[in-house]
Amino acid sequence: MVETPTPQDQAAYVPADVPLRELAEQHGLHIGAAVSAHPLRQEPAYALAVTHEFNMLTTENAAKFGPIHPQPDRYAFADADTIVDLAAAHDMLVRGHTLVWHRQLPSWVENGDWTRDELLAVLREHIHTIVGRYQGRIAAWDVVNEAIDGREMRDTIWQRVIGPEYVDLAFRWAHEADPDALLFYNDYGGEGMNKKSDAIYDLVKGMQDRGVPIHGVGLQMHVTAGGQPPAENLRRNIERLSALGLQVHITELDVRISGEPTPAKLQQQADTYRQVLDVCLETPGCKAVVLWGFTDRYSWIPGAFKGYGSALIFDESYRPKPAYQALHEVLARQPNE
Ligand code: G3I
Repeated sequence: MVETPTPQDQAAYVPADVPLRELAEQHGLHIGAAVSAHPLRQEPAYALAVTHEFNMLTTENAAKFGPIHPQPDRYAFADADTIVDLAAAHDMLVRGHTLVWHRQLPSWVENGDWTRDELLAVLREHIHTIVGRYQGRIAAWDVVNEAIDGREMRDTIWQRVIGPEYVDLAFRWAHEADPDALLFYNDYGGEGMNKKSDAIYDLVKGMQDRGVPIHGVGLQMHVTAGGQPPAENLRRNIERLSALGLQVHITELDVRISGEPTPAKLQQQADTYRQVLDVCLETPGCKAVVLWGFTDRYSWIPGAFKGYGSALIFDESYRPKPAYQALHEVLARQPNE
């Protein structure tokens, strides 16, 4: 449960003289964070840090199917609107996350007894409504999230009822609703060179061969301190995707620490952040690095990985950690330095 912030906490973020976004802009890179509407509305420090440091925002949960479309005939846009409006007011791009996933589905979808045609109609209407509403305001969409399990298509309601064509159709419908939005396939565990990234490569190449409008691949990158893929493998994977003409975004970077965050662990974490950003900056196809949150005050890690935490670049009181300094140093290098 999120604790009610104290006034002291609210004052804790001290705006950096030279924020990350200012440095990133000289490289033509987007640096972002996934955010939630509740602290954006409730906590001035949260909103101040986000708008000062980043030039890209991802809707962490607000635009997922369950939260935004809780009933067949009811949409709940307020949280996504908060994020999109804030971004527009501060000259930030938005990544919309996500149109088709097997988690955080509303029960009316999950428990419906659908024919193929019925579920196709549901998905088409959902995508047209959401992408249409934010046309011109959400620059990039994670259209399909985590559709691959190992080397195969994941067994989901979409796969079972519609079949693998749901992926192509989702991209086509998103493109109809906003022809200018960049459309991404997003997944985890396929950041370096491995069987999963091979399967992702085959999927997106196949989509291109079929004329499906796809513009990028999102590499989530939820890793442990020191557990990132070797830099050379990350680079090779980004390069083979960009050789297809696709953009790559690092979409959900966080670096979890086991147990107490000692100075040595925080340094190892900083080195991991540094290495990932380094590879992205050096590899032309990599256009954005988005963190999955930015403050340890709000992170999915402690709830999902027992004994792990402290995964982000600001601590729970919005103080920058060594990982923040590492990103700052990498971005402070002159382009081509
Ligand atoms: O909003 C409800 C609240 O109304 C309810 O009372 C409460 C009770 O559990 O739950 C709240 O929803 C939670 C939601 O986060 C918002 O806090 C869900 O239970 C919880 O499951 C959900 O977790 C999210 C998780 O996706 C779900 O799979 C995390 O915040 C979110 O960070 C995480 O994000 C995913 C990406 O979308 C895809 N890649 C992996 C990444 C990490 O799992």
